[in-house]
Amino acid sequence: MSAYTWNDHTYDVVVVGAGGSGLRAALGCAQAGLKTACITKVFPTRSHTVAAQGGISASLGNMSKDDWRWHMYDTVKGADWLGDQDAIEYLVRHAPDAVYELEHWGVPFSRTEEGKIYQRAFGGMTSNFGEAPIQRTCAAADRTGHAILHTLYGQSLKYDVDFFIEHFALDLIMEAGACRGVTSWQLDDGAMHRFRAQRVILATGGYGRAYFSATSAHTCTGDGNAMVLRAGLPLQDMEFVQFHPTGIYGSGCLITEGARGEGGYLTNSKGERFMERYAPSAKDLASRDVVSRSMTIEIREGRGVGENKDHINLHLDHLDPKVLAQRLPGISESARIFAGVDVTKEPIPVLPTVHYNMGGIPTNYHGEVLTLEGGDPDKVVPGLMAVGEAACVSVHGANRLGSNSLIDLVVFGRAAGLDCGAKLEKGKSQRDLPKGAGEDHLARFDKFRNASGGTPTAKLRGDMQRAMQEDVAVFRTGETLKQGVQRIASVVKASEDISVKDRGLIWNTDLVETLEFENLILQAAATANSAANRTESRGAHAREDFPDRDDANWMKHTLSWVDGKGSVKIDYRPVHAYTMSNDIEYIKPKKRVY
Ligand code: FUM
Repeated sequence: MSAYTWNDHTYDVVVVGAGGSGLRAALGCAQAGLKTACITKVFPTRSHTVAAQGGISASLGNMSKDDWRWHMYDTVKGADWLGDQDAIEYLVRHAPDAVYELEHWGVPFSRTEEGKIYQRAFGGMTSNFGEAPIQRTCAAADRTGHAILHTLYGQSLKYDVDFFIEHFALDLIMEAGACRGVTSWQLDDGAMHRFRAQRVILATGGYGRAYFSATSAHTCTGDGNAMVLRAGLPLQDMEFVQFHPTGIYGSGCLITEGARGEGGYLTNSKGERFMERYAPSAKDLASRDVVSRSMTIEIREGRGVGENKDHINLHLDHLDPKVLAQRLPGISESARIFAGVDVTKEPIPVLPTVHYNMGGIPTNYHGEVLTLEGGDPDKVVPGLMAVGEAACVSVHGANRLGSNSLIDLVVFGRAAGLDCGAKLEKGKSQRDLPKGAGEDHLARFDKFRNASGGTPTAKLRGDMQRAMQEDVAVFRTGETLKQGVQRIASVVKASEDISVKDRGLIWNTDLVETLEFENLILQAAATANSAANRTESRGAHAREDFPDRDDANWMKHTLSWVDGKGSVKIDYRPVHAYTMSNDIEYIKPKKRVY
């Protein structure tokens, strides 16, 4: 395309995304001596990992005896048995080492009296295979993600990762089913870049912004997931969207689960601690899907608080103000700014808010992207890897436990670096990219840049977000989901009339938002259709018309392919019903009780 010129680059590895998983993967590749680039839409320390609050899980046993097998049991159970148990074993076994590595790199963890890493209670984390709550979540006050991200960025610079900052990744360069590179648009000067690499690692995060109210940053638009769909590859388990129980009512800002871990509790309009009825043992520290559903039932049955009886109170006012200042300073400030609440005196108004995508790009536990081909459900896509929230390894199955996300980022970021180090040759000469590589990316880009329809992107985005919020919600029925599928299909149709006003190439936020919307709408279609298709309830997918888990028919991962017109094709992969080693047996499915 004559209007644009490529700036060409060759690397051993290109990582897209500079959050916790992207930085950890880039760092690992660079440590292995591979020439590594990291492309990122925002400055690395503004990546969404910075917003992670409560902590990172690992069975260090600093507060009481702990065991990786107990962590594994909790993760399998929390996932409602949809997680791949080989990957879960990999995660929990490597978790302690990954945390010590962070500590040695400089993460300023909070400390116990003896100087060990402080660990707090989080939902679903127990001792002795479900016996009692355990303190397993390692914390740097309530700013753990911030501490980790800054440390990893510093280390990545030390190992000479080349950063391409404020670059919007456009699409993957594919050749004969293999990934050969990626293209990007440099936002500050409008230049177009084409990267050739032995491997591309997608670390682009989740797509929370497909919903109206989310704890996710506005940048969480699942750009890598959409690139995978456009490359003709599937996403996995997109029906499983996590609602965090405690988003601040009105703004959606996160109030960490660590608040309940430090002793906070929820009440309804009668002042009742209602979680005692729903989860008599774990109470306010049941897993997130359980707490979010219980809050929604309380509100639906007229026991919500506030003028409109449409939210719930979170109490921290009984806690020692010194504990609040020391362990929860960030959320104390957020509650003041976004809810006008002094947490030492008043409850915080909260509501379940979209927080995390269990689904994403299917991978094995090395980070290699998988597809279904010729009857092989674990077929590796050469040259392509994915890590972090963008990936579906799948360790979180149908529902993620709080603090298992940060550990997922660093364990699988590290795994991807190790795999690249083991399998790639440093500086290996790469054959030329196919003729015209990336021209279709530019054609798509140019189409949106010059879009002259009558419907602003913001209107289409709002329609998509409201449809997802209302019809693909905490509770779902066949009817609401059918309506959600139809509403998303009409947004796709309406987007043929999209309007972009700014035709420039430099800091064109109108065009950035349009490209992001185009990425989101594909994932909204995958989510609504996968949810309508799964006729059971499991983890975060709560069907009122199919209230039970149905292992006979649904113990399988959903794969979804979405074409440019928003049509969704569905198929399945089996759940890995085996562990990684003989050190622990496959944990057989049973009913979840809290
Ligand atoms: O509640 C929180 O601090 C969030 C943690 C997580 O999602 O892992």
